[in-house]
Amino acid sequence: MNNINVSVSITSHEQWFASYVAKERVKEEGDASPIDLKREHTMSVLDNARRIVENEGFCASLSRACLLAALYHDVGRFEQYLRFHTFRDKESCNHGQLGVRILKKEGRLAEESPLVRKLVQTGVGLHNRFTLPAHIPADAALVTNVVRDADKLDILRVMHEHLNGSSVYNPTVILQQPDDATIAGEGILAAVRERRVAAYTDLRCVNDLRLLLATWFYDLHFTSSHRMFLKNGHALALLRGLPDGTPQAPLRDVLIQELTLADDL
Ligand SMILES: [Fe+2]
Repeated sequence: MNNINVSVSITSHEQWFASYVAKERVKEEGDASPIDLKREHTMSVLDNARRIVENEGFCASLSRACLLAALYHDVGRFEQYLRFHTFRDKESCNHGQLGVRILKKEGRLAEESPLVRKLVQTGVGLHNRFTLPAHIPADAALVTNVVRDADKLDILRVMHEHLNGSSVYNPTVILQQPDDATIAGEGILAAVRERRVAAYTDLRCVNDLRLLLATWFYDLHFTSSHRMFLKNGHALALLRGLPDGTPQAPLRDVLIQELTLADDL
């Protein structure tokens, strides 16, 4: 494996991002904590993407595109929250596409090579799609999948911290799902039975969310992502927090067994 090329420095982009978020944050007259969480999330996603890029040994252009796409993947979240006070795209706007519009308006990629610019725009614009379009070029798919894996790994951390009570409970973060132990989304249960990734649109409650997050194991693209998913323990902890006697409990046990076996390999 190669070490990351030392020429991959995105410091000026990181500085712009920090000042952009600070500028957006002062516009919020109510609860600004979701904005802080998204800023912290972004920096963690960037860290995860660095680890993937280092371990997978991509060339310099691809590495740079991956890091920039990770830094900018949620740049649309701040305007989305200011305008709609939710992170649910279907009730507001597509935050990936909004992010691309912001990058263009701000001229953030003007000094990048045409290849890097295109890859970053694609990665940001597609990172939140349930599935990628068919026939997407291999380099664009790779950049988008690095962002998607890095994003998933950190969303697991955020959700775990929220649902185990170690951070201030905020309904926006858990997508305003009710904490009702009697209900379940059939689509979520079916996805676990079929060992495939579950869809946000099938969520009905917090316990569904615990299962959904663990099914992301089936939607990671790199050896290093799988390793990080198993080693950081967030998915297993989320599953173990799912109570007995709920409709999700039998499928919780299926997933715990799957993840434990994978970790032993
Ligand atoms: Fe996102």
